[in-house]
Amino acid sequence: MVTGACFSEFGAYVSCVDVNEKKINDLVEGRIPIYEPGLDILVEKNTKAGRLNFTTDLEMAVADADCIFIAVGTPARRGDGHADLTYVYAAAKDVARHLKGYTVIVDKSTVPVGTAREVQRIIKKENPSANFDIVSNPEFLREGSAIEDFMRPERVVIGVESQRAEALLRELYRPLSLLEAPVFSTTLESAELIKYASNAFLATKVSFINEMSVLCEAVGADVHAVATGMGMDRRIGSKFLHAGPGFGGSCFPKDTLALVRIAKEKGVPCKIVEAVVEANAMQKRHMVKKIRNALGGSESGKKIAVLGLTFKPETDDMRDAPSLSILPPLIEKGASIQAHDPQGMAQAKPILPEEVIYYDNVYDTFLGADAVVLMTEWNQYRGLDLDRVKGLMKGNVFIDLRNVYQHEILVTHGFEYFSVGR
Ligand code: UGA
Repeated sequence: MVTGACFSEFGAYVSCVDVNEKKINDLVEGRIPIYEPGLDILVEKNTKAGRLNFTTDLEMAVADADCIFIAVGTPARRGDGHADLTYVYAAAKDVARHLKGYTVIVDKSTVPVGTAREVQRIIKKENPSANFDIVSNPEFLREGSAIEDFMRPERVVIGVESQRAEALLRELYRPLSLLEAPVFSTTLESAELIKYASNAFLATKVSFINEMSVLCEAVGADVHAVATGMGMDRRIGSKFLHAGPGFGGSCFPKDTLALVRIAKEKGVPCKIVEAVVEANAMQKRHMVKKIRNALGGSESGKKIAVLGLTFKPETDDMRDAPSLSILPPLIEKGASIQAHDPQGMAQAKPILPEEVIYYDNVYDTFLGADAVVLMTEWNQYRGLDLDRVKGLMKGNVFIDLRNVYQHEILVTHGFEYFSVGR
């Protein structure tokens, strides 16, 4: 969606194709299936300008195209953590049948090393006379700031072997040259690995600071100060050093698992990333204990107001959200959960236990609560009217899993304050 909309904003003519008719019908009628800030405006503008359309008609879209981006999902396969490539291969096969004239096929989906070559093989087998080149162009967009990331990338990575295909890709991304965004071209395999290695490295940074936060709790240090001090060294950098309840989302959890799996298959060690996966699960379990301890050792019969359910702010994505691991064990032990999320409640309802009660107004969430758990750092939770919150609650426990609030402020308002690392 974001890639399609942004390329149309650059002036390209883009057809977004999906096999899901409902999704396409919604889009044709102007309903965007995901929450991503700014996407609705971009889609409306470019649809009206005739540069962007949505269709299930793969044949027509493919026959016309100079360039085809395969951007289907690659979820972690149940059981072994391997990236499920069913959708990528199915798309490659479908595309192959309708190719006309020279076409560049681009792997946008996050795929294990070797997938681009496999896609190439599938297309050749399906349509031996097809005139095409294959490219790997991994994406580095973050949910919630995907359009900004597309429009102002720190780099564009292109894995490519043909000069003709490289020229076409560079032409597509040319509007970014004004911003001097580097377009780095390399081999297919390197491009594929750059994506996994980047996500695994960022996940490592997050897990590293999360482990330091637990150590901070044990030794009486302040994790915010530790991260600030570390981040001032430019070799380390300050980004992705924010301690929290463990990373989630559709990328870090599945990509770390997939990288471990790829290494295993090749018979090489991948111990650091294995430890990251384990540390992340431990961090989520630690959050459950933290909440339990803050409630005096037992959550049974306690009412907990939960602020934020999605894996991060500015998205409605619930995939691998820490709330999915942290809330069920509390409910099992007899806690009742009153929850709020600005965008994620519709996605959360089918996958969280049915006992969770949802409120549209954030302040209703606090009514009679023993404790507040700030799970996701949506902006609207940063400036809460703390006196009002306190007045609505039965208890005074405030557990901040995103370290949004300053200790002194919460204490001044009469809260007992707990945070990650404290
Ligand atoms: C991530 C990468 O940042 C993108 O570059 C990449 O394109 C994307 O995955 C992908 O593979 O598609 P995203 O999953 O949208 O993007 O979200 P991030 O902002 O990276 O956050 C991931 C998780 O780490 C979230 O749960 C977030 O709360 C957590 N996190 C992040 C922290 O706990 N602390 C931090 O300092 C940073």
